[in-house]
Amino acid sequence: MSSGNPIPMTSHPCGALTGVAEVPGDKSISHRSLILGAMAVGETVITGLLEGDDVLDTAKAMRAFGADVTRDDDGTWHVHGVGVGGFSEPDRVVDCGNSGTGVRLIMGAASTCPISVTYTGDASLNKRPMARVTDPLALFGVQAVGRSGGRLPMTIVGTDAPVPVRYEVPVPSAQVKSAVLLAGLNVQGQTVVIEKEATRDHTERMLEGFGAEITVEETNEARLITLTGQPELKPQTIAVPRDPSSAAFPVCAALITPGSDVLVPGIGLNPTRAGLYTTLREMGAELIYENMREEGGEPVADLRARYSPDMKGIRVPEERAASMIDEYPILSVVAANAAGETFMGGVKELRVKESDRIDAMASGLRAAGVTVEDGPDWWSVTGAGPGSVAGGNTAVTHLDHRIAMSFAILGMAAKMAVHLDDGNPIATSFPAFEGLMAALGARIERTSGSVAA
Ligand code: S3P
Repeated sequence: MSSGNPIPMTSHPCGALTGVAEVPGDKSISHRSLILGAMAVGETVITGLLEGDDVLDTAKAMRAFGADVTRDDDGTWHVHGVGVGGFSEPDRVVDCGNSGTGVRLIMGAASTCPISVTYTGDASLNKRPMARVTDPLALFGVQAVGRSGGRLPMTIVGTDAPVPVRYEVPVPSAQVKSAVLLAGLNVQGQTVVIEKEATRDHTERMLEGFGAEITVEETNEARLITLTGQPELKPQTIAVPRDPSSAAFPVCAALITPGSDVLVPGIGLNPTRAGLYTTLREMGAELIYENMREEGGEPVADLRARYSPDMKGIRVPEERAASMIDEYPILSVVAANAAGETFMGGVKELRVKESDRIDAMASGLRAAGVTVEDGPDWWSVTGAGPGSVAGGNTAVTHLDHRIAMSFAILGMAAKMAVHLDDGNPIATSFPAFEGLMAALGARIERTSGSVAA
């Protein structure tokens, strides 16, 4: 866990990045492994779990609801679940730290149990909208009382007589979809979730793996997910694939740093997550998928990324947004090093992530000498080709891990170093980032006043 004191960092321009980058386990799958493990009867065994602050907060929360969650010295996790509907009332506030995924999924899972739970988070999470989850939960008969604007801290009064729900998700959000499905698990009858735009489908895949009755119908207009409530979930052995969202950082660093050649093995390439890699290839990135295979129900490949000086700006298709929603910050760093304009539309959701990610990236990129334009649901970055970014700025990271890592990568290929006001947030999803990037040849240092994480 971080100390909470800011850790200023400086990322210096560096030479070629080379070697193998073993990125941590997938954050989305890690949260779901713990939560579904806690809702199964018996012992779920998890290897490759992301041990970042976000997921560790979810593990603590599962203990607070009565599950037994332990870790072996070799990093294997064991979850003894309490069964669907078996959550007991925590005797204190559940603190989900920085994690929107953690809190929204847990709220859903606990809400159809007859318990009252108060949730809180850090300064970033307590600003984020929760009505998107409490609105559909109200349809089950759940009450929520939070701060103005539907923000945390918030108490959810669960219901002991939930009714099944048919809900069309109004924003493309896997968190909302998953909250409704997890709530529906403990409801007799069929809960139906409709999404107009496909979002990451780990919850659906994993529910099936845990033995729930779930069907997905896809038409040109929508995905219709039907879940039959009150199954007995069967404990699983889960090998969490490595996170494509974390892999994006060494991959993009290699693409923009002269002479680089980096292999990032074992990356989950679920099509609902892999939009960045398609986009990079369209921009002209030398990005090769090696050894494609399937592991634990997810497509996986080793990614090889080589310095790609001929990348060009493109218009990123709006319909791809959900499959790369967490990768726009690092894409904007690549765009700043490509030739011409990269236009990113249909991305209103970026404004309500751990920070307003359009604003955070646009401010820092402009300060680094890059041309950025933005509107409510779009932004564009116009690059002047490899090595053209001046740098020399101090980026404000706003308690947002992806903003911090994106600016660290920007510094590697800029003319002058890029400074971060606070590298602490990196620990939420990628605690080994500094060491892993250093081993490839990056030069990131903790600058002053730092207290070890
Ligand atoms: C996630 C869904 C996405 C994503 C987040 C992880 C998930 O959020 O940004 O990092 O695991 O379900 P939204 O559902 O709000 O788009």
